[in-house]
Amino acid sequence: MEILQIGGVSCRKLADEFGTPLNVYDENKIRYQAESAVRGFSSEKFETEVVYASKAFSSIALFRMLGEEGIGFDVVSGGELYGVIQAGGDMSKVYFHGNNKSNEEMEMALDAGVGYFVVDNVMEASRLADIADRKQRSTKALLRINPGISAHTHEYIMTAAPDSKFGIHIKDRKHIEEVIQKLSRSRYVKLSGFHSHIGSQIVEAESFEKALETMIGFLAGMKADMGLDNMELSIGGGFGIRYLDTDKPVELGDMCSRMVAAAERYTEEKGVSISKLITEPGRSMVGEAGCTLYTIGDMKTSGDKNYIFVDGGMSDNIRPALYDAEYTAVLAEKPDAVGETTYCVAGKNCESGDVLIRQIRLPKAETGDLLVMKATGAYGYSMASNYNRLGRPAVVFAADGNARLVIRRETYEDQYKLEV
Ligand code: LLP
Repeated sequence: MEILQIGGVSCRKLADEFGTPLNVYDENKIRYQAESAVRGFSSEKFETEVVYASKAFSSIALFRMLGEEGIGFDVVSGGELYGVIQAGGDMSKVYFHGNNKSNEEMEMALDAGVGYFVVDNVMEASRLADIADRKQRSTKALLRINPGISAHTHEYIMTAAPDSKFGIHIKDRKHIEEVIQKLSRSRYVKLSGFHSHIGSQIVEAESFEKALETMIGFLAGMKADMGLDNMELSIGGGFGIRYLDTDKPVELGDMCSRMVAAAERYTEEKGVSISKLITEPGRSMVGEAGCTLYTIGDMKTSGDKNYIFVDGGMSDNIRPALYDAEYTAVLAEKPDAVGETTYCVAGKNCESGDVLIRQIRLPKAETGDLLVMKATGAYGYSMASNYNRLGRPAVVFAADGNARLVIRRETYEDQYKLEV
């Protein structure tokens, strides 16, 4: 019998050894993404840096692996930063994002020697300057600009989004200049550039190229009006991945080289130079490398639906319930068998919305079969919750026929350990 393998390890063996539900990453696929991003994102005209958006999946083991590949880290909280510190990450390559960073988080980041703060607003700029000057700790800042471009999956649509909670709108010169002035008065915080991020799960390169054109145009304006030249520019992340067989995203390495080519072109066209181009892929680094193994339990028909119940659900993957996200799955022990029945895959959380896949054709499924839900590596574990106290799954990295546990399964004791 043919059994699906991940990283050269059979799914049955993984389930027997580590239990289900189980998040499994193919380590070599993550390394491949990292290497192709670094390779694609390089230029002879300016420095480049690939930074992993750790919100997609944060684990110390992953941070170590990506650090080895020369990748930096985007963190949005003290909690994410703590993981990078534990992993021994290179602090000069850490970008501290987030609106409403607390004073404690700022102090923690300054003490750790974080390379960059991505500043969201005027109040943050003031607080950062005060805290860094008081502590006499140096750092660089990028100001987050809302470029007024919102991109959507499958087609790119540009609409101004002037009411976003992130950054300062590109046309809001008054507040942009206020940030520049506040930071110019600091001895310890240096405004080294600007940042923008247009959205997530965007599959076409054109939207990012448009964002680059807009941001480089903005830099030309900053040069002319404020005398700022040779700044750093981060274009954020958001590169889409293949969830369904019908999804056709641009490969990460190709996306990265297109971004660099576009930046080279627009800087020349607009007569402005940049010292460094930064990108922050999250989902595309880990999404397709990860999958979730579930064991099928009871099955039943209800109305016209054939339900398969699995031993996890919205508590380990909130994306279908929250975003109508679609996934595909296979039965690990019948990976290539013809789909003969239409099933609805539902979890065991106590909520009607706890459906992982609304409709999927699968070979005849039986209790005890292993269902492998694909491309769950991004925003699955990182958005998992303790709803219904199911306990978060274990996480395993598999490569070259070996599997290693990187996060153990959450136990009942773990679930109640915060009670006093
Ligand atoms: N940089 C910034 C400033 C971001 O806000 C994000 C994502 C990224 C980079 C990484 O984007 P990625 O390459 O992963 O698309 N929970 C949602 C996704 C939220 C993304 C938030 N920001 C989901 O499950 O689809």
